[in-house]
Amino acid sequence: MKHFLRVLTQFLVFLYCKCLWQGLKFVVRKVTGRCELQRICYNNKPGARRTLKIESSLKCSKSELLQSAVSVHPDAVEKTIDDIMVLKKIHPDTNPQLGISLQACLFQIVGYRNLVLEVEKLRREPYDCENPEHEDMLMQLWKALRPESPLTGRISKQWCEIGFQGSDPKTDFRGMGLLGLHNLLYFSEHDKATALQMLHDSLQTKLSKMSKAEWEKKKFDKAIGYSFAIVGINITDLAYSLLVSGALKTHLYNVAPEMPSLVHFQQTFCYLMQEFHRFWVEEDPCDIMEFNRVRNKFHKRVLKQLKNLDMALCPHFTASDLHLVNL
Ligand SMILES: *[C@@H]1O[C@H](CO)[C@@H](O)[C@H](O)[C@H]1NC(C)=O
Repeated sequence: MKHFLRVLTQFLVFLYCKCLWQGLKFVVRKVTGRCELQRICYNNKPGARRTLKIESSLKCSKSELLQSAVSVHPDAVEKTIDDIMVLKKIHPDTNPQLGISLQACLFQIVGYRNLVLEVEKLRREPYDCENPEHEDMLMQLWKALRPESPLTGRISKQWCEIGFQGSDPKTDFRGMGLLGLHNLLYFSEHDKATALQMLHDSLQTKLSKMSKAEWEKKKFDKAIGYSFAIVGINITDLAYSLLVSGALKTHLYNVAPEMPSLVHFQQTFCYLMQEFHRFWVEEDPCDIMEFNRVRNKFHKRVLKQLKNLDMALCPHFTASDLHLVNL
């Protein structure tokens, strides 16, 4: 009985708050002459600040049209905005900017959803040795990272030089499918200098970083190094989970004013690789056994950065030419 009363009270409080909220919205609308969507656009600059609020306002709306707006096909965005304007009785002539702003937000929202689907599809596609496109990408990766030394065969111990585990990279792609290969290739071709530098550093041991005396003192012969390709595939996993959890919205809504796309995801990967490398060196782990710890700490740090609504995780090569929405 006691329990029942408690639940009942909670329910009544919930109802009361909900009515209060609806009433408040009604009053604000009457006083300002604006609906919630208008107020959000009016009070928040474009980018994550605005789009995230529009997104949650649409999702929590009572109207079916507004609720389903977040999952329309990109081709239907313009029509949906027209319908919303009619529903909200906002005349486009008296408020021409509102339709444009809402449309920009909705393109970002549905773009992010589509990007999640596209990335998921690549992750699920296994590496296939019979597929000439896959094989070709793998060869491109070798050429980008080892331009001076030709591969002696498709199956070769040389793959270990760029951080695969064995003589056939195919097995290493299992976790992330083709997504891992796409990302590694993008990084190696679009941010070549950084990728080559990272690969070079990843092959170094601590020995080269300290004098003989220091070396004697520390008395461990562990490598600073890690396996470049394996870590790349693992950081792909990190980028993927940031995307799927929605944490990357802040960043993508800030850097992709039109629509987040695969290129933006790949650039995020480049940023994460650079930063992970820097973090790894700073953390100064004894050996690769500490990977788990360092990765978790790095993950937490990135999540924290993404809580800042003005955050954009840009690799240095795009930071200058991206049309950042609001930085
Ligand atoms: C990446 O590393 C983490 C922690 O070591 C592990 O849990 C995860 O399964 C790895 N992901 C892949 C794709 O190897």
